[in-house]
Amino acid sequence: MNSLKTQAIEEINKSSELKDLNEAYRKYLGREGEIGKILKSLKDMAEEERRNIGKEANELKAFLEKQINDKKSVFLNSAKKKAGSFDISIPGRKARTGHLHPLTLVKRQIEQIFQEMGFSIVLGPEMETEWYNFDALNIPKDHPARDMWDTFWLKNSKNLLRTHTSPVQIRYMERNNPPIKIIAPGRIFRHEATDASHEINFYQVEGLMIDKEISASNFKAIIQEFFSRFFGKVVEARLRPSFFPFTEPSFEVDMSCLVCEGTGCSTCSGTGWIEVMGAGMVHPNVLKAGGIAPKDWQGFAFGMGMDRLAMMKYKINDVRLFYSGDLRFLNQF
Ligand code: FA5
Repeated sequence: MNSLKTQAIEEINKSSELKDLNEAYRKYLGREGEIGKILKSLKDMAEEERRNIGKEANELKAFLEKQINDKKSVFLNSAKKKAGSFDISIPGRKARTGHLHPLTLVKRQIEQIFQEMGFSIVLGPEMETEWYNFDALNIPKDHPARDMWDTFWLKNSKNLLRTHTSPVQIRYMERNNPPIKIIAPGRIFRHEATDASHEINFYQVEGLMIDKEISASNFKAIIQEFFSRFFGKVVEARLRPSFFPFTEPSFEVDMSCLVCEGTGCSTCSGTGWIEVMGAGMVHPNVLKAGGIAPKDWQGFAFGMGMDRLAMMKYKINDVRLFYSGDLRFLNQF
C-alpha cells in the first residue's frame, strides 16, 4: 500500500496536463484500478486483516482523489486564464434588424408630400368626446353614425374611440387662427363588419385648408397633385356628390382600382373604382364650432383612408393583411 501511494503521488506530481491526470485516475481509482483490486480482494482475507487493509485502502482512495482533484483545478484555472473569458472562436450572433410596417411607410410618404405642399402635420387623441367627434362636426343626435353599431362607446361615459380624424379639425381651429393648412394622420375605430376593404380599426389622414378664397377647385388640384406624387403616375380620380353633415357641398373621391387596373375585382367590389376619401367645403356650423367666422373664411376638408391608399400602391387585395401580423406578408416590405 505504501509503495502504491508513493508511486501514485509521483505520477500525479509528474503529470503536466489534464490527460495525464485522467490516466492516473483510471490507473489507481478507476473501476479496474489498483485500489479497486485491493478492495475486491478483501473478501478473501481474515477478519482483522480485512479491517486494517480495508481502512487503509479507503483512506488512500480518499487521499488520491483529493490530490487528483486539486491538481485538476490548477490546470483548469490556468487554462481559463490563458483563454480569458472570451472565446473568439464562437460564431457571432447576427443582430436582427426590423423594418417599417407598410402603413408607416405610406404615412411617412403622405406626410412628406403634403409638407412639400406647405401643410403642417398635427395630431389628435384616439379617445374622443362626443362633442368633438359628433356635435362640433354638425352631426345631429339622431344621426346613424351615433348608433352603437358604428361607434365604440366607452363604458359609462360620453367618451368614445374616434370614428374619424375629423375631430382634429375642431381641436386645431380652436387654438389657431386662419389661414390654416394642415393634415392630421391617425388611427380610427369603427364597429362594423370586416371584409377585403373594411377593418374595424384603420388609419385616416384628415386635411383642412382655410383661407379667404379657397374653393373646391383648389381641393381638386391639390388632390390630383397628391395622387400623381404618391403613385408616381397620373391616376384616374372622380368626384362623386355625397353627403357629410360637416361639409357643404360634399363629395367622395374614387380612384381607379390599381389592383385590377379598373376591370373589377374583390378589392373594389367589382366596380373598377375604389373610394379613397370623403371631402367637401367646410360647413359654416363647423367653422363656428371652431371659433372661426364663416362670413370671413372658407375652405375645404377631406378624410382619406390610408389603408386603401396603401392597398392601391402595393396592390394588396385585403386590408386585413395589414393587421394580421403575418411575417410572410410583412417581410415583403
Ligand atoms: C369620413 O370618415 C369623413 N370624416 C371624411 C371626411 C373628412 C369628409 C372631411 C368630409 C370632410 P368615410 O366614413 O367615408 O368619411 O371614411 C373616409 C375614408 O376612410 C373612406 O373613403 C375609406 O377610404 C376609408 N374607410 C372607411 N371605412 C373604412 C374601413 N372600415 N376600413 C378601411 N378604410 C375605411
